[in-house]
Amino acid sequence: MPKIKIEGKYPLCGAIKINGSKNAALPILAATLLSDEVCHIDNVPPITDIFNMQNLLLETGKHSDFQKETFLTEASGELSPFASYQFTNRLRASFLVAGPLLAKTGFARVSYPGGCPIGARPVDLHLKGFEKLGACIHTENGYISLKAEKLRGNKIYLDFPSVGATENLMMAATLAKGTTVIENAAAEPEITDLANFLNNMGANVDGAGSDTVTIRGVEKLSGCSYSVIPDRIEAGTYLIAAAATGGKVTVTNVIPEHLNPVIAKLRETNVHVTVKGSSVTVEGKSSYKAIDIKTMPHPGFPTDLQAQFCAYLSGAKGTSVITETIFENRFMHIGELKRLGAKIVTEGRTAVIEGPSKLNGAQVIAGDLRGSAALVIAGMMAEGTTVLEDGGHLFRGYHRMVENLQELGAHIELLEQ
Ligand code: EPZ
Repeated sequence: MPKIKIEGKYPLCGAIKINGSKNAALPILAATLLSDEVCHIDNVPPITDIFNMQNLLLETGKHSDFQKETFLTEASGELSPFASYQFTNRLRASFLVAGPLLAKTGFARVSYPGGCPIGARPVDLHLKGFEKLGACIHTENGYISLKAEKLRGNKIYLDFPSVGATENLMMAATLAKGTTVIENAAAEPEITDLANFLNNMGANVDGAGSDTVTIRGVEKLSGCSYSVIPDRIEAGTYLIAAAATGGKVTVTNVIPEHLNPVIAKLRETNVHVTVKGSSVTVEGKSSYKAIDIKTMPHPGFPTDLQAQFCAYLSGAKGTSVITETIFENRFMHIGELKRLGAKIVTEGRTAVIEGPSKLNGAQVIAGDLRGSAALVIAGMMAEGTTVLEDGGHLFRGYHRMVENLQELGAHIELLEQ
């Protein structure tokens, strides 16, 4: 695992162009399995999770070329509907190949997914939905087998608006016979992006971005050209980092509405945020206010920015309360923030932060992607040297983060690769 060394107390200043969204690109790449034809996808971030998905697609017989930010799939023959542990254990989103493989070939055998250890992360909602579409499910030796000669449209109510389940079922339903209605669907921007991609392929998906998505099955999907939306979580991470270091940073190439919750919460802490076209600028302050945050499904505050905001709030004046409602184990960064001197008490899914704390550099370890980003932010806030021991998690979700932060004035370097 590479280490990342940070000398704190240098404010970030400048502009940074945001990459394509990881969490939009991953389901879109899985959806290419639904067509035998060539798909040309731009604005795909060159990060580890995408390379892992590319390898997984290759295992199923879907060849592709990934240069710069363009992902080009080749026309495919018969697919091999298997996803082995070797690839699925690295990536939660690996399970998103289940729906497309099932719809396209009538069968899928997929190993239980891995990914960030932020909770139990079962796939029961995906499976309940596949059953509603007529699939028979069998689990054995860590593998889930799904079978249905032809899926049939149905009404599916999700007990929770799961992002992955909504995506998997939407993809499966595109080639089902008849109409599928997903109720209590997730409404994240990445769901809308996937629906737009599927519709470009010739699917008939309606209502994405609301809590009811309707999919009218079609016979066949074709290839298409598409560009992935900007990454709202990458953008939010840099905005929070700028505020946390008392700097001034503009993120460009963003869709500001996707950043509404983080902009609202930054403003609530009393820092200045301006929106202009497809750019957002934050100007930090040496003293800012404590606030409360509760993570929620979209359009609520995203769980993927909770850890970064937690680091920021350790420097806020007063008591902040963070409630994590999406994942049951997403406070792993807090123990490490405390090593740096943050005053945080957790009870269940609630963290109470007393600030402002004077952070001091230390050796830290994160264990997950967004927790790593939080520790980088805390390292930049702290006096002295911080070493993030397992920095490799960052590369799963952030393209060139160390270089970008250097360009913005951070004293940060990658020690081992
Ligand atoms: C997606 O994960 C994202 N990953 C996550 O991003 C993000 O944190 C999450 O959505 C919530 O926004 C990708 O898009 C690749 P869920 P996903 O299904 O689809 C429970 C990041 O850092 N649940 O909406 O796995 C589950 O355990 C990451 O980029 C079930 O109980 O999230 C969790 O508590 C990490 N049964 C909640 O629902 C199921 O069958 C939300 O999960 C499915 C989910």
